[in-house]
Amino acid sequence: MRIGNLQLPNNLVAAPLAGISNRAYRVLCRRYGAGLVFVEMLKVESVLHHNRKTMTLKYYREDERPVGIQFCGNNPSWLAEACRMAEAEGYDVVDFNMGCPVPKIGKCGAGSALMAYPERAAKCIEAMVKAVKIPVTVKMRAGVNDSCLNFTQIGRIAEDAGVVALTIHPRTRAQMFTGSADHARTGELKAAVRIPVIASGDVKEPEDAVRILRQTGCDGIMLGRGVWGRPWLFREISETLRHGRVITPPPGPLERLAVLREHFEMLLENFDVTHACNVVRRYATWYVRDVEGSAQFRARITRVATRDQFHEVLDEITRAFEEQLGVPDDEQISARVAVAG
Ligand SMILES: Cc1cc2nc3c(=O)[nH]c(=O)nc-3n(C[C@H](O)[C@H](O)[C@H](O)COP(=O)(O)O)c2cc1C
Repeated sequence: MRIGNLQLPNNLVAAPLAGISNRAYRVLCRRYGAGLVFVEMLKVESVLHHNRKTMTLKYYREDERPVGIQFCGNNPSWLAEACRMAEAEGYDVVDFNMGCPVPKIGKCGAGSALMAYPERAAKCIEAMVKAVKIPVTVKMRAGVNDSCLNFTQIGRIAEDAGVVALTIHPRTRAQMFTGSADHARTGELKAAVRIPVIASGDVKEPEDAVRILRQTGCDGIMLGRGVWGRPWLFREISETLRHGRVITPPPGPLERLAVLREHFEMLLENFDVTHACNVVRRYATWYVRDVEGSAQFRARITRVATRDQFHEVLDEITRAFEEQLGVPDDEQISARVAVAG
């Protein structure tokens, strides 16, 4: 998929996810086949004030490319300034968030609340596009509520302003995360604009991605909750699109534990150990949630408080699974690494 002057390796995008899409998450998404990854949504005010937490969240490295950043706000000149900063910092894409339904953001007239003010939205988007040469994209919802379903209007405004791709999560702001993502709306948006449209929402299995691409004619798929603890869903979707089915079997418990260990070590690159332990607890349960006999270990991982404790618990869990399954031989391991690479 091509967005503006940026050619992506494929049409699968890792969603910006507040509290989730940190560097470790993004590296694993890229490794398993995401064609573009995003830093979580940042409030434009926090970016311009160099807020400390925001600086940590913004941290990325070359191995993540192509990598995008996402801003929310409703002040055109602040947004333009933040875009210039993002360009100078080397991000490949800047996305404007018009999808966040959280009241804290909505009460400032930003995120999906801004969809109720198309003229204001147009000013923000125009300012962002004019400020930089890197591609500017917009991510939105279907509308504010069932009586304000204005995604095609916002899509056209964005296209006219020079935005190079749109992502739609086709639920309304009022819906939050209830009900289901109505991808008939994704198809409507695709028919209304000429720029690439990316579908976000409820892609949990490769078949979901294939169906949405076929039924809507959209250009790309963005994955959010479906890849939590399952970054290989990107690979599974790619294989299904290419070969009609998943070729590489999902990683077994030992590989998952190795990925979890690596995930934790990467978290330590930009979080202190207490925060890294808090974050990894959540990931840990996701990685092994469907592994038989993992319930007892999940409870133990949720109690780790230091790096040593984390590795001790993981060593123990790994030994238990090795006893159960046998240690994989080198040939098996290198075959897997080759496939994942
Ligand atoms: C915990 C959480 C955090 C999210 N954070 C963001 C965000 O920072 N920016 C954004 O555009 N969307 C955010 N979203 C929305 C997702 O990017 C995505 O559009 C939505 O979850 C639907 O896709 P899914 O069903 O694949 O998860 C968030 C969703 C969740 C559940």
